Amino acid sequence: MKNILVTGGLGFIGSHTCVELMNSGFNPVILDNLSNSEIWIKDRIEKIANQTVSFYNGDCRDEQLLDTIFSNESIHGIIHFAASKAVGESVLEPLKYYNNNLGGLTSILEASKKHNCLNLVFSSSCTVYGTPDSLPVDESAKIKTAESPYGTTKIVCERIIQDLSIADSTFKSILLRYFNPIGAHETSLIGELPLGVPSNLVPFITQTAAGHRNSLTVFGDDYNTKDGSCVRDFIHVTDLAKAHIKALEFLLNKNEGICETVNIGTGNGNTVLELINAFEKVSGKKLNYSIGDRRSGDVEAVYADASKSKELLGWEAVISLEQALLDAWNWQQSLEVN
Ligand code: UD1
Repeated sequence: MKNILVTGGLGFIGSHTCVELMNSGFNPVILDNLSNSEIWIKDRIEKIANQTVSFYNGDCRDEQLLDTIFSNESIHGIIHFAASKAVGESVLEPLKYYNNNLGGLTSILEASKKHNCLNLVFSSSCTVYGTPDSLPVDESAKIKTAESPYGTTKIVCERIIQDLSIADSTFKSILLRYFNPIGAHETSLIGELPLGVPSNLVPFITQTAAGHRNSLTVFGDDYNTKDGSCVRDFIHVTDLAKAHIKALEFLLNKNEGICETVNIGTGNGNTVLELINAFEKVSGKKLNYSIGDRRSGDVEAVYADASKSKELLGWEAVISLEQALLDAWNWQQSLEVN
């Protein structure tokens, strides 16, 4: 069985990806510093997969630890999730973001070269497109100046990997540009665990429905969209996790260096108000919400042209928005009883 180093493997997307790796016959080796995750997620991953996983508690910038991992485990590929991701915090603490996100990536790349492990799947974001010039947005679209240090780290990390590919013709990588991941595992054993007040929409909705928040503010209803609220491409985290397995298999089957950039979205745009309506329908809960001002830095509309993922990786999203919202709600309810 092939060992795959999964940095940030106890996080929201990382944990679902570990489950899908095991479902596909890979053995995840998790490196996570628990800065935005919980150790009990490891037990949950093991419970779903009915298999134990190797876990290292530590930071990607710890070169000694990386040496230990690469020496102890025979690593065939790396999926690098570990990064700080709160947009607002990144504006207040830019150095934390540049240090962690750029430093984490460069030390992972150094270790992968040193130990001759040349397959890397990197977590990027549709944030690199800013406000796209046309929709749906495909991978050839212009990269825009980021609205936040967080966004800048994603652009620079992509560039670092691309530069390495130019310098080293044996290096193989895929940059996955995620759209908006939502939902939770169908077992309700793993899901999103926001620290403090959630800034992302769906955790805010489920916490409001569960009574932890008084009301949800819809950030603006005067955009140039069908109902005035922003449009996003909401993708189930399990679909997203499966894209990583396809990306990894693609790299493992390649004999020469490659660096591909691939959108991971559904190809559908839904407004914030549509999402709220769909949530009310599947949960049977009336959501207390009101319309507020626009949030600074928000993009009016962004959704993927999802054709490249299908052509190159043979992957496409299959889970409905309704199912994703129901899974997110079931996960929230499971948190209430535990
Ligand atoms: C955000 C980040 C993006 C990052 C992604 C990670 C910004 C500007 N962008 O995307 O870089 O990759 O998270 O998941 O923060 N909304 C409300 N009320 C709320 C929360 C959100 O109306 O309480 C709206 C937002 O205005 C937006 C939509 O819901 O239109 C989605 O927001 P969010 O979940 O924060 O994701 P993004 O902003 O798309």
